Amino acid sequence: MDYAQSLFEAISESAVILDKAGRILDWNQSASTLFGYSKREVLGRSINLVYDRNYPFPKIIKETLPFHKKWLAETVFFRKNGTKGTCRTSATLLTNPAQGKTAALLIHQNISAFKVVENDLKATAESLGANYRQSVAGLLALYPLYTKNSTFREQLERDLRESELRFRLLAENATDIIARVAADGTYLYVSPSCRTLLGYKPEELIGKSAFKYTHHDDVTKLKKALFNSRHRETKSNTTVIYRARRKEGEYRWFETLVRLICDEDTREIREIQTASRDVTDHVLDKKVGMRKQQLAHVFRLSTMEEMASGMAHEISQPLSAIINYTRGCVRHLQSGQHDAPLLTEVMEKAVTQAERAGEVIQRLKNFFCKGQLVKTPCKINSILRETVSLIRHDFTSTKTKVDLAFEKDLPFISADRIQLQQVMLNLLQNAIDAMRDINPGARRIKIETATLNKDTVAITVNDSGPGFSKEVVHKVFKPFFSTKAHGRGMGLAICRSIIEAHGGVFTINPNTSNNSWIRFTLPIE
Ligand SMILES: Nc1ncnc2c1ncn2[C@@H]1O[C@H](COP(=O)(O)OP(=O)(O)OP(=O)(O)O)[C@@H](O)[C@H]1O
Ligand SMILES: [Mg+2]
Repeated sequence: MDYAQSLFEAISESAVILDKAGRILDWNQSASTLFGYSKREVLGRSINLVYDRNYPFPKIIKETLPFHKKWLAETVFFRKNGTKGTCRTSATLLTNPAQGKTAALLIHQNISAFKVVENDLKATAESLGANYRQSVAGLLALYPLYTKNSTFREQLERDLRESELRFRLLAENATDIIARVAADGTYLYVSPSCRTLLGYKPEELIGKSAFKYTHHDDVTKLKKALFNSRHRETKSNTTVIYRARRKEGEYRWFETLVRLICDEDTREIREIQTASRDVTDHVLDKKVGMRKQQLAHVFRLSTMEEMASGMAHEISQPLSAIINYTRGCVRHLQSGQHDAPLLTEVMEKAVTQAERAGEVIQRLKNFFCKGQLVKTPCKINSILRETVSLIRHDFTSTKTKVDLAFEKDLPFISADRIQLQQVMLNLLQNAIDAMRDINPGARRIKIETATLNKDTVAITVNDSGPGFSKEVVHKVFKPFFSTKAHGRGMGLAICRSIIEAHGGVFTINPNTSNNSWIRFTLPIE
């Protein structure tokens, strides 16, 4: 046995020599002790026999060892008796100079015992962790009892400082104004966004009463939101919309979310936390929308009213002049006078007055749209939707349900948007009027759009009122025909005039309730 061989046998580590294919060439005594196999049993077999997995030793010997010098791994092995252990294993390249063959030396350091201890320690640490967490939870439960204890007080203060820090971090970066308000309404803290939203620096507001900046009409509302006892009881948040004055004096609308921090026992307010955002644009939009609705309604009535009284006045003047002139002529003729030049002069005056009356009517006709159309390509569905939203208020106040049965992707039509809206407003107002006497729950309007043929779209309005009766259907488009106590009878006359100017026609289906409809067509662009 040479020196190297005796050393190989003598070392306490389990040493194994592998050939380049990973087969066992040699196996020392310690290896036999560790793995339970005799050298005879393992020679020529793969070392993976003892491991829990197949390591690619041919590859490791060829590709890894020459470059990395050593291969290290924690290998799990099974002894011949089936028991399991762990080794820290190193592989080194071994070149046998005598034979010029490449081989590898594996040294196994048994760490099984260490592993057992390590696992035990881990388990202990884990259970300690759980116990620790449990104890902390227990301690937290006892927290109120210990607040007098200085360590806990310090901890509490630290926590508070941290939460204050978190609060500030959030507040200082928020676009809303975050504020803390004392129970008497004075600002304790105001976030920097008050510069942008109110024009004040935080330090200008802190210590001042929040109500100082509130519109006097809204102070009661704001106070109610801030000090509401109901919110104190239910611990719920509340929102309030009010006007606040900017530094330059301008009032803006704000929406504020209010959170009350109350004493657990007495429910006294300790502090009020608020988050406020400027909603002026939103509020104004809403107001403008309402105003538009009112205006549309008033406009409709006032135009009719003005037109009717204006028309009456303008026509009655020439008419009475014509009456006077013709009566004069009659009287002249009856008295046997036949002064032809005088009669001609008077009759010419009568003709002038008649022409004047004709002009008034022509002007009215023009007003009713002919010759004034501003046609643009439009989507009829969107015009209708817009009109419906314009008088949504009328629908809600009369509890009328509106169904829109629109055909999708209708072709464009060329029309005067405003005038078509005027038509729809009249039709919808008529439908609302027609359902005045029926049960509010049964009030329904259906607006349908459809392509009638390749050149025409049709818009049909149907309501659940009594419908157009057969007796009136031929008269409804005549000016001044109305069955309503205060109706002017101009609505449908105007509608027809507008639709005809667009190249469309009106049709009415006279019928009983629900099946009666009024329809107009429009040519496709
Ligand atoms: N949806 C409808 N259902 C039943 N009858 C209707 C309907 N729409 C109109 N009518 C009848 O047609 C008439 C004429 O309607 P039109 O709109 O021209 O005038 P009006 O509504 O009476 O008055 P105004 O033009 O001032 O609104 C109405 O008075 C009513 O008798
Ligand atoms: Mg009408």
